[in-house]
Amino acid sequence: MASLQESFIKIIDVHKEFYSQGQTDKVLEDINIDIKKGEVISILGKSGCGKSTLLNLIGGFEKPTSGSVFFDGKEVERPSRRAIMLFQDYGLLPWRTVRKNVELGLEPDNTLTPEERKDRTLEYIKLVGLEDSINRFPVQLSGGMKQRVAIARALAIQPELILMDEPFAALDTFNRYFLQDELLRLQKKEQKNIILVTHDIDEAVYLSDRVIIMDSQPGKIKKILKINLAKPRDRSHSDFQYYRKVIFDSYEFPTNTQAPDYNI
Ligand SMILES: Nc1ncnc2c1ncn2[C@@H]1O[C@H](COP(=O)(O)OP(=O)(O)OP(=O)(O)O)[C@@H](O)[C@H]1O
Ligand SMILES: [Mg+2]
Repeated sequence: MASLQESFIKIIDVHKEFYSQGQTDKVLEDINIDIKKGEVISILGKSGCGKSTLLNLIGGFEKPTSGSVFFDGKEVERPSRRAIMLFQDYGLLPWRTVRKNVELGLEPDNTLTPEERKDRTLEYIKLVGLEDSINRFPVQLSGGMKQRVAIARALAIQPELILMDEPFAALDTFNRYFLQDELLRLQKKEQKNIILVTHDIDEAVYLSDRVIIMDSQPGKIKKILKINLAKPRDRSHSDFQYYRKVIFDSYEFPTNTQAPDYNI
């Protein structure tokens, strides 16, 4: 097992339960993961298996019921600016424009002058292609545009760890591919760590160094798959298809050997 120094993120024996309406729900069980500096990790699994909960634990938004999460050698106890979370529901403030929403993440950073903050905001709004909508409010944007604002806000902070909960789900194919490539470019340039929850097998294979496949009820790690392909990857290559198939097969979809009984 890697030591705390070797692993940038280390999750040790994490269990998570939620209590609601007098009932205890076991959501995550026996989670152990070691992540090295600069790795891109995807988390795949059925709806409700605990992917967002796991991301929240890594980001310090939730606490494990037992076990520990370490980030750069320190136990995670609260959210940090070094680790930014892109929430599944975008987390935009409805009363702020695109510009002000992106700038929001930079406001607590007093190492930036107002001019630098303005420039950085604009740089990341351009990156996600929203310069024409800079003065619009969230209600005036499509789902994909809101998602791009949230991506710009997270990247503008230039964190070491980016936690993304289905970040590209609402985007069309063109924008999704473009932003996946931008993300990989930034990641390579600045050796960022990315942990990404996705439902898209193709996205997981395209972006990740390793893919975590989860089982549900309670959420457990079923398999961790290393993707041994050089980046940038070719989605049409047979090796890429091979990894897609390995992941797809690990879901064990039931085969329809029997005709359904319609009871007519
Ligand atoms: N704050 C909470 N209180 C009670 N139960 C919760 C809470 N947050 C999540 N859960 C439960 O934990 C389980 C896992 O939820 P989670 O949101 O982590 O799933 P997920 O894998 O991200 O699903 P999806 O793919 O649909 O986003 C679900 O059964 C959910 O109802
Ligand atoms: Mg989720």
